[in-house]
Amino acid sequence: MSFPTQRPRRLRQTAAVRALVAQTRLHPSDLILPVFVREGATEAQPITSMPGVVQHSLDSLVAVAHQAVEAGLGGLMIFGVPTTRDAVGSGAVDPEGILNVGVRRVRDAVGDDLVVMADLCLDEFTDHGHCGLVDNAGRVDNDATLEQYAAVALAQARAGAHVLGLSGMMDGQVGFVRKALDDNGFQDTIILAYAAKYASGFYGPFREAVESTLQGNRATYQQDPANATESLLEVELDVAEGADIVMVKPALPYLDIVSAVAQMSPVPVAAYQVSGEYAQIEAAAAQGWIDRERVMMESLTSIRRAGAQIILTYYALEAAQLLR
Ligand code: PBG
Repeated sequence: MSFPTQRPRRLRQTAAVRALVAQTRLHPSDLILPVFVREGATEAQPITSMPGVVQHSLDSLVAVAHQAVEAGLGGLMIFGVPTTRDAVGSGAVDPEGILNVGVRRVRDAVGDDLVVMADLCLDEFTDHGHCGLVDNAGRVDNDATLEQYAAVALAQARAGAHVLGLSGMMDGQVGFVRKALDDNGFQDTIILAYAAKYASGFYGPFREAVESTLQGNRATYQQDPANATESLLEVELDVAEGADIVMVKPALPYLDIVSAVAQMSPVPVAAYQVSGEYAQIEAAAAQGWIDRERVMMESLTSIRRAGAQIILTYYALEAAQLLR
């Protein structure tokens, strides 16, 4: 037996040495906080399956936007929770719809001090709960949906969103929305494309957060968890259509995809640590089975290490405070 000549432990001796050689660092400006604003709410209301996350009133939404600026966050991704829904999701197009009002209020409050993002989808606004329009046979009609997305995009751009988060997974949505924006003088509105979005059970708690009415599933438009290479195709198409940023979602169960996309994407890559990922950590921590803060920071570090430059996370504010 001989003693080792290579001693990797040398670089693990003290916290200062470890910090010196750390290859992955988190920074508040990489983090985006997803937030929910509920029509008619007069105060923030808790979401059972997402402890610590709330449905905001317009006033509490503006307050959290100010906190996000204070914390140096990269941005706020706003989701709307309307009180009435219809077949075509009219509330998403209506300038007085809750999401557009929320975006306008936040933008008025923060100006350009924070990147204001709007979720561009129909599921929160349709009575059937699908991300697109449904035809007579009950199928999600891709091309009819594109027209509606273009209308939503213009409403959100007019409300003052810097970034539109296209989360509906319709084919051609990025190119269609880009053209509509450009034709209407919004060539500077940024498109964050949910390029590789999987049909995931990890979205469960989100459906409570937005009071989703969905019956069935989204398997005909979101990706099959069994597949990897189609994510590269989705990213390639979205970039060719004009996506400014591409996203992989969920994050931790799909780190292989985050890594593969980071290696081939010419535009910045984001990943979304979704509601079910958050809920798992919260539930185990509440039992005392894991160290909440430690697992929170470790999960974010892992997503960053895999190659995501930007992370959407319900922990954004708390993580930013810990990073200070
Ligand atoms: C769809 C959308 C979903 C999420 C973000 N945008 C739900 C879905 O596709 O069913 C999930 C986010 C999360 O789980 O945190 N507009």
